[in-house]
Amino acid sequence: MTSSSTVSSSITPRHQAATTALLDWYDVHRRDLPWRARHGQRPNPYHVWLSEIMLQQTTVATVKSYFARFTERWPEVADLAAADRDEVMSAWAGLGYYARARNLHAAAKRVANDHGGAFPADEDGLRQLPGVGPYTAAAIAAIAFGQRAVVVDGNIERVTARWDAVTTPLPTARPELYRIMDALTPRGEQGSRAGDFAQAMMDLGSGLCTPPRKTKNGLSQPSCMICPLMGTCAASGKAPENFPVKKAKTPRPDRHGVALVIEDQGGHIALERRRDDGMLGGLYVFPGSGWADGSPKVADYPMTSDCGGGIMLDQFGHGETLNTRVEHIFSHFRVILTIQRLRIEAKKPPLPDGLHWVDRGELAAKALPTVMVKVARAAGLIDPRD
Ligand code: ADE
Ligand code: SF4
Repeated sequence: MTSSSTVSSSITPRHQAATTALLDWYDVHRRDLPWRARHGQRPNPYHVWLSEIMLQQTTVATVKSYFARFTERWPEVADLAAADRDEVMSAWAGLGYYARARNLHAAAKRVANDHGGAFPADEDGLRQLPGVGPYTAAAIAAIAFGQRAVVVDGNIERVTARWDAVTTPLPTARPELYRIMDALTPRGEQGSRAGDFAQAMMDLGSGLCTPPRKTKNGLSQPSCMICPLMGTCAASGKAPENFPVKKAKTPRPDRHGVALVIEDQGGHIALERRRDDGMLGGLYVFPGSGWADGSPKVADYPMTSDCGGGIMLDQFGHGETLNTRVEHIFSHFRVILTIQRLRIEAKKPPLPDGLHWVDRGELAAKALPTVMVKVARAAGLIDPRD
């Protein structure tokens, strides 16, 4: 019991006042959502599970119509389990992240076939289902089964960070925010209201303690004046919009370079296959200069005769520089490529090592990296819709 007594000792009257105020507020102001049980009714675990999976990465407004269609078509988890997988996938279309739909169907089968149609009733059991992570397991255990579980999603992180004016930046602050939610979540006799409490935090985060949006006058403010937590909140009146603190993004430098589009008279394009090691390894790219930080001027990226593109320019002249540039963001830098176009008055003349002639019509099928697809589009080599 050491860990729970540690938590209990950090529960102050301020915590207790906040918990009570939020539950009272929820009793009056809770959103009426299709998957929520009405007052006095038992929640339906299938509905709770289905909504929680749908709500991962998707807004409540979008989920409502999908939830209605799924439950009309598959009223019980056994119906969903018995459905054809392709039907489930196409009913899911538009919600995105298709791994979620595959896991949804797999979990429905597991519940129907291995658990006699009843969802596991605690976090550990729920965690065994495909697509159910720590957050979702806690949410279902609390909301559907009245278990005392600590539920923390992105909205709850924001509310807890504000309520305690947490200055540690995200994501480092996560364990701290979890502890705050743990200290606030009702326990003892009230522990069965953990699900109401979590949903109250979600409703608060969606309606009052809202994420900051950029406006003409700076960041938008949460509605502290009508918030049930105003009396206990450490950030109220102290620029709450600045919480949670986010770790400063490392700036992404710009790199520049030239991509060389070499065409022969027979509708062929010279592509270079990248070495297997290193960036874009093994992929086909347009030959070109290296990419370097600094100047955007083409003249600063000479293609010398130690690379395939340079050899071709030495042999056939410099072609034309197109006005369009192509921009692409990689994880650690942005590249801005100038396109240089070289038309050769011959059919498939021999190419230096590493370059290959490719039929123009086969470009779209060549698995070019996205940055090179952008180059091909900008040069008019493939249909913009491909
Ligand atoms: N987002 C995720 N789960 C939710 C729930 N049960 N109520 C409202 N918003 C949510
Ligand atoms: Fe959020 Fe303001 Fe309420 Fe604090 S008082 S929880 S900052 S809305």
